[in-house]
Amino acid sequence: MPEQYRALQGFRDILPDEQPYWRFVEETTAEVARIYGYRRIDTPTLEETAVFRHTSGEGTDIVEREMYSFDDRADKEGRRVNVTLRPEGTAGVVRAYLEHGMFKLPQPVKLFYMSVPMFRHEKPQAKRYREHHQFGCEAIGQEDPAIDAEIIGLLYQVYMRLGLKHIRVNINSIGDSNCRPHYVEVLKAYYQPLLSECCADCQTRFYKNPLRLLDCKNSQDQAKIAAAPKINEYLCEPCREHFAAVQRFLHLYQVPFSIDPLIVRGLDYYSRTVFEFFSGDDKTALNGGGRYDGLAEILGGQPTPAIGFGMGIERIILELKKQGIVPPAELSAQAFVVYFGKQPEVKDTAVQVVAQLRQAGIKTEMSYGDRSPKAQMKQANASGAAFAVLIREEDLANDSVAVKDLQAQGMDVESKQVQVKREDLLAYLSGDQAS
Ligand code: HAM
Repeated sequence: MPEQYRALQGFRDILPDEQPYWRFVEETTAEVARIYGYRRIDTPTLEETAVFRHTSGEGTDIVEREMYSFDDRADKEGRRVNVTLRPEGTAGVVRAYLEHGMFKLPQPVKLFYMSVPMFRHEKPQAKRYREHHQFGCEAIGQEDPAIDAEIIGLLYQVYMRLGLKHIRVNINSIGDSNCRPHYVEVLKAYYQPLLSECCADCQTRFYKNPLRLLDCKNSQDQAKIAAAPKINEYLCEPCREHFAAVQRFLHLYQVPFSIDPLIVRGLDYYSRTVFEFFSGDDKTALNGGGRYDGLAEILGGQPTPAIGFGMGIERIILELKKQGIVPPAELSAQAFVVYFGKQPEVKDTAVQVVAQLRQAGIKTEMSYGDRSPKAQMKQANASGAAFAVLIREEDLANDSVAVKDLQAQGMDVESKQVQVKREDLLAYLSGDQAS
């Protein structure tokens, strides 16, 4: 027996029943992004590994153990490039911004990406997949704190439009290259004597990525985190002013938020404002983002302030389901064509009517496999179609069909069913029933 294959661990099929949720999230997010002036960008799924390695940061989980990287086939000169399936969206968008000279356009350049697949070799668990999809926005080329508030305000509006409740917005400032190094030294000095009591991961973080010490989920380290020095007490004056202005503008956007000095984010490129959205008491963020004023330089560009976020669509759909929010239903068929009899002309006419209606833009169904009229009618009733179009041998000669109103209730059989000329069928089904 040939092997029955299954999707890889951490990879999922998105089946038709799930698609209304995706459409709901995609349409809502794209609409809000456009209201805020963001334009769509699509970048390749595969980039040179260096694009991600240098921007996400060497000590991060993504670069250390989660990237799907491999040597591409050799080119004509026999050179092989190491390539990576995109683990996150920001680096590719900034690479495109630089490559296409978008810095020459009026700044900021405001871009969004939609349902973009991301690949991270994470331990499969609830809310974590090896392939997930993000909606994200990036505003590149502007350091005005009004744009930080705009990005967070946009996200908040997305959640409100989706109908989600109990949304918490947590923000923080992690300073910049001027003040953060000093804070990191203070943090290390605090952790140094505690290191032997820390979990193994924290012992590594201390050397590779000390800020991430604050993000440890291990229970043995929570008391140490709670008592650790907080970055907001070490911000330089420009960072402090920037953060104060972000908060002022967020009030104007009427976004309720809290300051959480422990938000540090999982990627190295962040500076100043960082934020995460949560639902209720959940510990896993629905989405997150922040400023990345130094990222363009890492990719060979001029210093370019920027801010953005990524939102995992799978996580949003899980939350919609948890909160019992049902997406708008898919449109049922307008017509279901049922044919009576085994004569080839009857079925030919049925196929022809189906083809003509579909080509005219009417959502039309029929059943296949020569089922009995009774079985076809059962299918038509179950399909949610507005009308059944009955093709019967006796109507072929005068070029008419019977149209049965499947949604009409309490009418007698006669008024539920009318005879319509083939040439008038389209108008009849389109609602122009006087013709
Ligand atoms: P991130 O926090 O790594 O940030 O991912 C953004 C969001 O993607 C998460 O909050 C979550 O909703 C979703 N996500 C991440 N990993 C998974 C996973 N394994 N399974 C399901 N969903 C996941 C970034 O990726 C940044 N590029 C965001 C950003 C844009 N910052 C500035 N601009």
